[in-house]
Formats: sequence, structure tokens, C-alpha cells
Amino acid sequence: MKRILAGNWKMNLGVAEALALFTSVAEGLRGAGGVSCLVFPPATALHALAGARGPGDPKLGAQNCSTEPKGAFTGEIAAEQAREAGAEYILVGHSERRRLFCESDALVRQKLKAAWRAELTPVLCVGETLAERERRETRDVLARQIQRALEGASPRAPLRVAYEPVWAIGTGVVAAPAEVGEAHAWISEELTAAGRGDEPPTPILYGGSVDPKNAASLAAIPAVDGFLVGGASLRAESFLAIAEALRGDPPAH
Ligand code: PGA
Repeated sequence: MKRILAGNWKMNLGVAEALALFTSVAEGLRGAGGVSCLVFPPATALHALAGARGPGDPKLGAQNCSTEPKGAFTGEIAAEQAREAGAEYILVGHSERRRLFCESDALVRQKLKAAWRAELTPVLCVGETLAERERRETRDVLARQIQRALEGASPRAPLRVAYEPVWAIGTGVVAAPAEVGEAHAWISEELTAAGRGDEPPTPILYGGSVDPKNAASLAAIPAVDGFLVGGASLRAESFLAIAEALRGDPPAH
């Protein structure tokens, strides 16, 4: 399985800037192989990037969607609309959505359903806060987030999971390899309990302050199937350096 490098551009970049970054990333990866790349631009740039995308270029994803397919929901974007604008993936349950927009586990489940309804592949983000880690609740938090998100879901529905400890996102503090390995193992157990133990395994990415300096040591963790990168995905040079770190032989696990 190729490892995955995903870039979450968050609420950054105008259309022209997004196109320029996408083009540089696509050119940098062309012919390099070894890594499967996704980018999550702001919704305003999705359609332009889809138009510019060539075969083999990074795939596109939306950062958020409504639970509803259409209707009187001013300001919302349906998963179907994101799909039609060029998205194949979607982030669901990102900690910024959970924390700043009060998205509950129940809402996360509804958004996963919306993603599958629109034939998007969701990247489900899970992770504990610093207070939860200090209280040694990490395993329980991950179990709760995954169980509630996947309740009633088909084990065959396409899915990627990103382990993103909240305290590591945008802070420059990166989780230690042992913490990442342990959390990924717990997530795998939960996915197996949810009926996802069979081949192909559900890829589990790590996210939280991944940068060109720490990428190689994180990529060496056997349970890491890829990265979800925020800040360092906003410059082609740093994103491509992270791709390079992931490109080696995927560790066996
Ligand atoms: P970061 O963000 O790489 O800037 O920590 C990761 C994310 O929010 O997905």
C-alpha cells in the first residue's frame, strides 16, 4: 500500500495562490511515485484546482460539508456539491471543527454518512486534548470517537483515519514516536472491533506539527500509513520534503 500524504490548507489561500501551490506540488511529485497525495484546499478553490488537475496529480478533498444533500441551509456546502466541484475526499471530525464549531460525535457520524452518500472518501480525524492525555484518557477518547463515528456504518465503506492529538496541531509540539505508535495501535484495535480488520486495512495517518525536520522519524514508525499536514503543506518546498520522507519503503506491520 502506498503511503498517503495529505495537505490541509485550512482557511488559507485565494484561488490564484491555491492554483500556484497545487501546480508546484503536482510538478514536484510528477514521476516521483511512491506516495499517494491528497490536498484539501478551501472550498472556493476546489473547482479551479479540479480543472487544472492532470492524471496522476494529487487528488482533491473538501474540508467540511453539511449533513444534508440540499435545501435551505444558508452558507453550508453539501457533500454532493463538493463532489461535483471536484472533491474525492473529505475531512470529517477535524479537531478545529469539533472545538471551534462544537461538532459532536453524533454530528461527525452524520457527516460521515453524508460523505458516503455523495461517494466521497472521508478522512476521519480523531485525537485527544492535552488535558485528556494528562488524565490518561487517550485510549478511551479514541475508542469513543471511533465507535460513535462508525456506529451503524458498513465496514466496507471507504475510510481513512487521521490520528491528530489536539495538543500537537499547529503548536510545533509533535507527539513522540512511542505515543504515535501506541495511539495508532489503539485505533487499529477499534477499527477491527468495528469490523474493519480484514484486508485491505484502513490507512491510519498521523497529523500534528509534521514538518520536514520531524517527518523522517515519524515516517519510520511502522504503524504510520501517512501524514495529514497543516502548516507545512502551505509551501511546496516543505510539503515536497515531507513527501520525500514518506517515500521510502513502507514499514511492514
Ligand atoms: P499542523 O495541522 O500540521 O499545522 O499541526 C495539522 C492539521 O490540522 O491537520
